[in-house]
Amino acid sequence: MASSLLSDEKNGRKSLHTLHMERQEQAERSVLISCQSSTNEKKFLKYLSKHGEINKYFFYESYGVYAVVEFANQESVTSLLEGVAIPGGIHESTVPFKSRLLSLRNLGSVDSSNQLSGLQCQPQTTIPINELIKTLSREQSIDKQISSLTEAYQLTEENSRLRFLICSLLKDIATAYFPECTIKPFGSSVNGFGKLGCDLDMLLDLDSITGRNVKLPKSGLSLEYQMKRANSERAVTQSILSVIGECVDQFGPGCVGVQKILNARCPLVRFAHQPSGFQCDLTANNRVAMKSTELLYLYGELDPRVRSLVFTVRCWARAHGVTSSIPGAWITNFSLTVMVLFFLQKRSPPIIPTLDHLRDLAGPADKSVIEGNDCTFVSDFNKIQLQSNTETLEQLLGEFFEFYATFPFSRMSINIRKGKEQNKPEVAPLHIQNPFETSLNVSKNVNASQLDRFVALVQESAWLLQQSETSTPRGGGAGGEGAPTPWGLASLLLPSQVAGIKSRKKRRREPASERIKGLLESLKNKNQLKKS
Ligand code: CTP
Ligand code: MG
Repeated sequence: MASSLLSDEKNGRKSLHTLHMERQEQAERSVLISCQSSTNEKKFLKYLSKHGEINKYFFYESYGVYAVVEFANQESVTSLLEGVAIPGGIHESTVPFKSRLLSLRNLGSVDSSNQLSGLQCQPQTTIPINELIKTLSREQSIDKQISSLTEAYQLTEENSRLRFLICSLLKDIATAYFPECTIKPFGSSVNGFGKLGCDLDMLLDLDSITGRNVKLPKSGLSLEYQMKRANSERAVTQSILSVIGECVDQFGPGCVGVQKILNARCPLVRFAHQPSGFQCDLTANNRVAMKSTELLYLYGELDPRVRSLVFTVRCWARAHGVTSSIPGAWITNFSLTVMVLFFLQKRSPPIIPTLDHLRDLAGPADKSVIEGNDCTFVSDFNKIQLQSNTETLEQLLGEFFEFYATFPFSRMSINIRKGKEQNKPEVAPLHIQNPFETSLNVSKNVNASQLDRFVALVQESAWLLQQSETSTPRGGGAGGEGAPTPWGLASLLLPSQVAGIKSRKKRRREPASERIKGLLESLKNKNQLKKS
């Protein structure tokens, strides 16, 4: 373990709070500009540099080419915006809401050499699964495959900046009503487990509004704000989200398909932010979710195997339709992550500590009680002593599948607070205790058939990893026409032969190699024998 905060920062291990502060501040100094693919990079930079030094910039594609430009100083943004024109036109009228989302116009002489400028665009989405399977098949060990998958899927530096920039642009809308508010990303955008293309969960944070802690003097004169009252916190959240949602819909450039889902357990406004390509969920008064984000982030930072295993399991689950982008009776990524954490707590020796242990290590500053729920846990990494478990990722992946292939789901609940399964407190096919709101089941939505599919798939994958045919490299490029034969993790991502895949939508896939097909056939026969 690192011995000081300084060395933690050197190791790139920052608290989520520090990360938020840094990224938010960068975002404030940034603008988002729609460009043409023929934009001349040099001229573009020269033009913008007139307003001050540029710290960082990058281009990406999403319904056109965009540039994120971060200036060294806030004043540069102010100076830049002073010279920006409001679009005029005979046919269109515009809402004159000014934001840092701009369009680059290039009028006058067209420089033909510009057409070939070939801007380097940073990818903001993951490679297709077929490509991933090919890439993984070329690796020489399962450990390398897992690292390679993590590399390919994790959020990039640029994508993370873009997420904070979108929050900052939305904040500019919300501050019209609440000048002291912030909008913070939470969930997989910042918990370390987000994959390129994941949704952007945002929290409108009104806790930083000053005046809440102003104590009225015991005697003499004082003033207090007159404020509108509502029946409940929930009603306040709903009315704020309703108004902000309306503004996003009516005034927010690039925000489309705004839906107000105010009657959900956690009210939210959902919309697509076209210039970034992000599906956005804006919530308010959702402090517990921010706590669970912090907790997941902390677990992910404790040991690199945590993130790698979560990425692998999430990818595996998506490939088999265990998770889905559409809400329903499916297991969610959040549930899956908690399942991986629980499994890692159950290793011998454990790879990560229980939440109760993290609570016991907490100092006075870590104390947090939200709506009666104890959300206290340690924030200082240095206080956490890890045990020396040396299992490889390959071992852990195999053990993960075996663990859940035989887990007594019908009786037991998954509990990362205790690090031990507990008797189910209520009837539900899958019971995962919410780490902070302990009376809630994170996977309440999951029905019996989805759990059955999950179990059939983990059994199949456990079995596949035990076969030497699947678990050893097949020799890169030996599969004809340069396509390597899927093996190891790659073969686990191929369409399954079990778990009722017939009902699933057909996806275009590389055909499974003959060898894998044979293996799966024998598995099917084995299963049929068992059943009869
Ligand atoms: N959350 C929670 N309890 C739930 C569901 C969600 O506390 N039952 C919190 C978690 O902190 C979660 C965040 O809300 O990380 C966002 O939820 P969601 O978008 O569903 O999950 P993500 O972790 O962001 O994963 P994904 O990549 O699928 O969006
Ligand atoms: Mg999310």
